[in-house]
Amino acid sequence: MCGIIGYSGYRPAVPLLVEGLHRLEYRGYDSSGVAFDVLDRINVIKAEGKLSNLEAKLDSEMTLLATTGIGHTRWATHGLPVERNAHPHLSQDGAIAIVHNGIIENFQQLKDELTAKGHTFLSDTDTEVLAHLIGEERLSAPTLLDAFAAALRRAHGAYAVVLLSPEEHGVLYAARMSAPLLLGVGAGECFIGSDIPAFLPYTRDVVFLSDGEIVRVENESWEVFGLESLESRTSAKSVTRIAWDMHAAAKDGFKHFMLKEIMEQPRVIKDCLTGRLTGYGVDRRVSLPELDGLPVPSRLHIVACGTSYNAGLWGRQLIERMGGIPVDVDIASEFRYRDPILRPDEMVLVISQSGETADTLAALQLARGKGCRVIGLCNVVGSSIARESDVVLYTQAGPEISVASTKAMCSQMTLLALIALYFGQRRSPAVCDPSLLEALEALSGRLQEELPLMNERAKQLAEKFARTRGFFYLGRGCCEALAYEGALKLKEISYIHAEGYAAGEMKHGPIALVDSDFSSFALALDDDLFPKVKSNIQEILARRGRVIALVQRRGTGMAPRIEAEEVWELPASHPVAAGFLALPALQLFSYHVADYLGNDVDQPRNLAKSVTVE
Ligand code: G6P
Repeated sequence: MCGIIGYSGYRPAVPLLVEGLHRLEYRGYDSSGVAFDVLDRINVIKAEGKLSNLEAKLDSEMTLLATTGIGHTRWATHGLPVERNAHPHLSQDGAIAIVHNGIIENFQQLKDELTAKGHTFLSDTDTEVLAHLIGEERLSAPTLLDAFAAALRRAHGAYAVVLLSPEEHGVLYAARMSAPLLLGVGAGECFIGSDIPAFLPYTRDVVFLSDGEIVRVENESWEVFGLESLESRTSAKSVTRIAWDMHAAAKDGFKHFMLKEIMEQPRVIKDCLTGRLTGYGVDRRVSLPELDGLPVPSRLHIVACGTSYNAGLWGRQLIERMGGIPVDVDIASEFRYRDPILRPDEMVLVISQSGETADTLAALQLARGKGCRVIGLCNVVGSSIARESDVVLYTQAGPEISVASTKAMCSQMTLLALIALYFGQRRSPAVCDPSLLEALEALSGRLQEELPLMNERAKQLAEKFARTRGFFYLGRGCCEALAYEGALKLKEISYIHAEGYAAGEMKHGPIALVDSDFSSFALALDDDLFPKVKSNIQEILARRGRVIALVQRRGTGMAPRIEAEEVWELPASHPVAAGFLALPALQLFSYHVADYLGNDVDQPRNLAKSVTVE
């Protein structure tokens, strides 16, 4: 939520900041702005709405003169998404500009204090209060750094903040507390960003900042300080070379990032499996050396939000069945406040694409505080959750730009299947289902062939069903979790009301909604529960409801006989592999509905990709 960027170097800063903001826009797009320092004066330009509105205002030649600047793209927390609330915000005297991601929880108290001292505020934001507080501290602090640190020590909550002031021309200060912030180190230049893609075209050398650290950058030089006593921590920090390249952060000819990321799933599965399967034939085994040092847990608590939570629900079925471990799955924002019972021989598995989701991070910290070991399943290398987990398994899906998560879930499911098999092996070394391993290994090629056909079919069905009043997504067993995910994807980007249900639960109330203008997407894959789902479809048809049935052909090449308005056939597969075929079908259907309705697919309204507030 909110993307921030800073640049100090030799290039024109403003175009570079705007380019970086484009790659951070997935974090929020309610408003945007930049501040840069020309002729010892801070210039601030900001605009409501999408970044294109800001770009339209950046026509002055002055924007090409600055070689230091800061930028922001906002997901509103305090105050309406209007221009006066857009960042950057200035101190009372206009000598300090900041951009901020997070929430200053005691901002009202600080604001009252500053108002009593004569400060006046132009916005409703907590960030402006922080800018004024730094300015106020500057009146008595010996240096700008001291003033910045003094103000931050008084601010409670979460922040990643970058500061610009003509007092130290060409210099930026930045700090983090429970919100992502990275330093990119180039030749003759430094970058600060909420995420790696912000500066990926210029450098892949990254320094991960920790909570309670401040960094000072000036061209290529950088220095890190501890917030409390301003001791230098530079020698303790290392530069990490990131493997991502720009190709991964570009659309590559696809109309939207979401479509590109859906189509990347065969590669994602392959990358997830690479190096994680060893041996041949009957000796083929899953290898997860990251987990070798941990005992097999007596119970596993999976904790996550959004799509990652749905992946966790899917994984539970496998880990219980194949790993033999009882599993609970919790929504992180609930788990963290319900004082869960966690025994020392149990373990917590947190799942997060971004590795920065505030509730998931808090759940992790709670579990560790109770002496429970935590395994992190993350995509973003060096993210907070990756760093704070006892053990981290990286999903290696590459940067996911579209706000609606797609390939990340595919990668999480692949790793969850591997975790289930791995714990199964640990409990009984002889047990490893070779047919499942074979099916997983064949999956990437299989999906690669199927995706173009699925894309066509999804488009046809989307056009037919895009005007329906609402949708149920129904599934049983592993497909229950996929039903939740299908409904989440549809409502996120098409704004059509959709709910996922365990198919058997639908008749306990929800079925009252069914009529001839109401549709259901039934996951009727080839597993033991197929006859039950088939009966649930009949119940809907009997109420004149419209039904898309997602089925699988059998070994004979024929689809099962099933009654529905539309039957969408997927190829035959191992029951576990079936989920990996159904997932892109659900994603593509939502994608095409949203695109057909003319919605902004990659940046749906009101959402943000990385939710770093509660
Ligand atoms: C936001 C995103 C979702 C994502 C969820 C959890 O709501 O819009 O797509 O699933 O956060 O994010 P995480 O990074 O923890 O997986």
